Amino acid sequence: MLLTGPSDKGEKMQKMWYSFLPCLLFLQLEANPGLKVRITQKGLDYGRKIGIELLKRRLLKETFPSWSGQESFSIVKVNYTISRFRVDAVDIPETSASFIPGTGVSLSVAHASAIISADWRVKTWLLKDQGGFTLSISELFIASVFKVSRDSTGHLSVLLHSCQLSIGSVKVKLNEGSSWIYSFLSGYLEKAIHSKLEENICLNIKYKIQMMDAQLRKQKVLSQIDAFAQIDYSLVSSPAVFKSHINLDLKGTVYPVGNHTDPPLVPAPFGLPSKGDSMLYLGVSSYFLKTATLAYYKAGVFNITISKDLATTFNLTTAMLKDFVPEIAPRCPTACPVLLKLMATSPPVVSLQSDTCRLWITGSVEVFAVLPNSTIQYIFTGNLTTSTRSNLTVIKQKLIISLLLKRLHFSLLHSAVRFSQVSLVENFLSYTLRRVVIPVINGKNYGQFLSTVGGKASLKPLKRVHSFKGCSVRSFLSV
Ligand SMILES: *[C@@H]1O[C@H](CO)[C@@H](O)[C@H](O)[C@H]1NC(C)=O
Ligand SMILES: *[C@@H]1O[C@H](CO)[C@@H](O)[C@H](O)[C@H]1NC(C)=O
Ligand SMILES: *[C@@H]1O[C@H](CO)[C@@H](O)[C@H](O)[C@H]1NC(C)=O
Ligand SMILES: *[C@@H]1O[C@H](CO)[C@@H](O)[C@H](O)[C@H]1NC(C)=O
Ligand SMILES: *[C@@H]1O[C@H](CO)[C@@H](O)[C@H](O)[C@H]1NC(C)=O
Ligand SMILES: *[C@@H]1O[C@H](CO)[C@@H](O)[C@H](O)[C@H]1NC(C)=O
Ligand SMILES: *[C@@H]1O[C@H](CO)[C@@H](O)[C@H](O)[C@H]1NC(C)=O
Repeated sequence: MLLTGPSDKGEKMQKMWYSFLPCLLFLQLEANPGLKVRITQKGLDYGRKIGIELLKRRLLKETFPSWSGQESFSIVKVNYTISRFRVDAVDIPETSASFIPGTGVSLSVAHASAIISADWRVKTWLLKDQGGFTLSISELFIASVFKVSRDSTGHLSVLLHSCQLSIGSVKVKLNEGSSWIYSFLSGYLEKAIHSKLEENICLNIKYKIQMMDAQLRKQKVLSQIDAFAQIDYSLVSSPAVFKSHINLDLKGTVYPVGNHTDPPLVPAPFGLPSKGDSMLYLGVSSYFLKTATLAYYKAGVFNITISKDLATTFNLTTAMLKDFVPEIAPRCPTACPVLLKLMATSPPVVSLQSDTCRLWITGSVEVFAVLPNSTIQYIFTGNLTTSTRSNLTVIKQKLIISLLLKRLHFSLLHSAVRFSQVSLVENFLSYTLRRVVIPVINGKNYGQFLSTVGGKASLKPLKRVHSFKGCSVRSFLSV
């Protein structure tokens, strides 16, 4: 199954990019993946735009150390201090990013410029003076290549592979100062700053990438989805970089909280389609869905008691039962609330075909009435088999599974009252599941599988839904 990202651009994916890229985490394993992530050129371009904006903002806030020293100017020894560097403006008009097959990603910057102001102070045996100056750096070109790989523990690793730099010009304009200070300082500073930039820009990039890499490797391989389940996002193979995209194969195993024994399931190989116009693709395997349903089953999520508190959209009352359980009516002159206990008796069965995802749940149901004097009156028990179709939707970094009841089969096991017609029970249960139980299950958003990728798991109302067919998803991320 394939979940696609949006093909349009915008603010909405921004947060997701901040959080998603650095957080893909990983553990070593020789196996087929349960989840696949593909980032396309379009996604890379989007990431580049956001990255450049982030870089600009960061540069504008950057602080630089002051520096001082002694220089000879003709026969005079001049002590100088340069301090309070402030970046006033940064312009990065041309950038490009592309995939380097087999290696990683290249990022280049062309015709970049910056305006920086700073203070100067000079001291010689004769005089002392100080003032400010403006520094214009222009025609800066940087071409860098980042290598992506999987480290020995299975995390994503990013390193600077190569970096080339060219600086067009560095011009210094003093705001004060006598003419000899002017010619001394501007001449000296232009040279000194030019060589400082040449020495440090690539080193700085390397250092920043090393820090990011260290952070990537610190990420936990196992992430909490919610109170019930955890997911292993480790890379099962090295990222595969092609001309038009990068593929990341993730383990994608969901565990019940506290038990990380691999379930007795083996992921089957699967591929992502090559056509499409999205920035990001998420491929979901039936292995992933099976481990998820198994984990949630073990955590007891499919055992639900529906009471008045849970039924927010609909009040379940004995008025609905009176057609087939006439004995209940005299005990509840006004309709009494009905209590429903649903229990899954075996792990739900998942089937995933290209565009349909089905879930079969077998279990039992117990039905009670809450009498006016608060006594809980048992009414009947039966076996229940339901067939549901599921929609998988990615909303705000969460994979949300919503169920739609397709078929229901009920068989009566035991009853405290006389039944007039069992087929009416089926209608009642079907109606109840559709109106009460399924909305409760869907409302709980068990499937917040991606929330941990993004860090925060806040649930805000969905802003936008893209509709695709059947199972293969509706939306990507609004922030
Ligand atoms: C300049 O700095 C040197 C040490 O860096 C110091 O010895 C010298 O006295 C200073 N000269 C003036 C004029 O302040
Ligand atoms: C953990 O799960 C495995 C199979 O999924 C099971 O065999 C084992 O008993 C469980 N361990 C605990 C402590 O629940
Ligand atoms: C769910 O209900 C079934 C049937 O009563 C029970 O066997 C099972 O232990 C329950 N599961 C959990 C996790 O509570
Ligand atoms: C359910 O019944 C309660 C009173 O018992 C009422 O306040 C509430 O509005 C009802 N809900 C619906 C959805 O009808
Ligand atoms: C509650 O009412 C029912 C029927 O009206 C009756 O059978 C039962 O004994 C009552 N229970 C209590 C605790 O009063
Ligand atoms: C009800 O379900 C249980 C367990 O799933 C099974 O053993 C039993 O045979 C079923 N009974 C009927 C009447 O279908
Ligand atoms: C699933 O998606 C289809 C097509 O987008 C839609 O018609 C259907 O109502 C959705 N079902 C649920 C349960 O959201």
